[in-house]
Amino acid sequence: MPKFNPSFSTRAIHVGQEADAETGAVAVPIYATSTYVQQEIGKHKGYEYARVSNPTRTRLEKNLASLEGGVASRVFASGMAAINAICTMFKTGDHVVCGHNLYGGTPRLFNQVLTGYGIAFTYVDTGEVRNVERAIRKHTRMVFVETPTNPLMALSDLRAISKVCRQKKVDLVVDNTFMSPYFQQPIALGAGMVVHSTTKFLNGHSDGLGGVVVCTRPEQDEQLGFVQKAAGAILSPFECWLVLRGVKTLAIRMEQHDRNGRQVAAFLAKHKKVKKVFYPGLPDHPQHELALRQMSGFGAMITFETGSLANANKMLRKVRVCSLGESLGGVETLISHPATMTHAALGEKGRKQIGITDGMVRISVGIEDVEDIIADLDQALATI
Ligand SMILES: Cc1ncc(COP(=O)(O)O)c(C=O)c1O
Repeated sequence: MPKFNPSFSTRAIHVGQEADAETGAVAVPIYATSTYVQQEIGKHKGYEYARVSNPTRTRLEKNLASLEGGVASRVFASGMAAINAICTMFKTGDHVVCGHNLYGGTPRLFNQVLTGYGIAFTYVDTGEVRNVERAIRKHTRMVFVETPTNPLMALSDLRAISKVCRQKKVDLVVDNTFMSPYFQQPIALGAGMVVHSTTKFLNGHSDGLGGVVVCTRPEQDEQLGFVQKAAGAILSPFECWLVLRGVKTLAIRMEQHDRNGRQVAAFLAKHKKVKKVFYPGLPDHPQHELALRQMSGFGAMITFETGSLANANKMLRKVRVCSLGESLGGVETLISHPATMTHAALGEKGRKQIGITDGMVRISVGIEDVEDIIADLDQALATI
């Protein structure tokens, strides 16, 4: 019989989502239990205590590993807990090279928590591969990249960076939250691990927090499993279930996010009140060619320049279909102000260094009818 090699949506709906063996329930049950009965000392069904493992979690971990093309995955209480879990594998004296434009919470963890444990971080523009190569030192353990970046939508060439990382024997870790595995597969491009805030597109409905690390080697899985057990920042069974439900529609949601994203970006690019649009799908994006090569869609994340804090504030007060708030990746259009929200922790100087201005507005385009999103933005922009 030929080997069955299911495609993305089939895996999203079926891997780890098999019918329940006991009852035939088509949806994965939420195993709301803290512990498991054992048959005798040392004899059990593979589950001992829910911090260590839970069947709903096992199912989700299997599913997400399949979607990213990894050997295994481990889920955590939030995206930040997932990134932190990776860093707990490092020790004093270790060094990390990272992109200079990451989600603001990531450098906050690196600079304000982990440097206290003697881990050093060097921030470079990972858009230039040679910057990464130059920054790698003897004790570098990880290169951490977000592509596209938040909120500047700048890309890094994952294939080229992973080649450098392989030569230097350093793991490339990619935060793939913005693209989801539907549009970008960092492991296929050579990454050693992938992280997501599952809070975003993987869940997709803005109703739960979570994070995942997808591994390419069994020893990473083993170490992260130990971190789950030892540090305990695991994802609850209910929130695992929400993500299992969310990923069933990931492909169709991403297609609609992408269709709407392209139209909203085109509208903004032509609008006379908008000074600049940052979206890799626009032909004038400086890395449009790389986007075409590395991603199979452009997604829903768009940043644009209104010119000033006052202008941004005026329009953000007027939106009705778009909801003003942090986060992204939900079915609803979310609009935010990076300087005072997601990137406030960088401080004015830190933001200026990488080019985040007070006039920037970021949209996570939802899957509503696109003409309503555009009409809403149009009326809000008319106020500036
Ligand atoms: C790209 C990216 N990575 C990580 C995180 C952190 O995820 P969480 O909020 O689930 O901790 C976020 C949150 O906005 C994000 O946008």
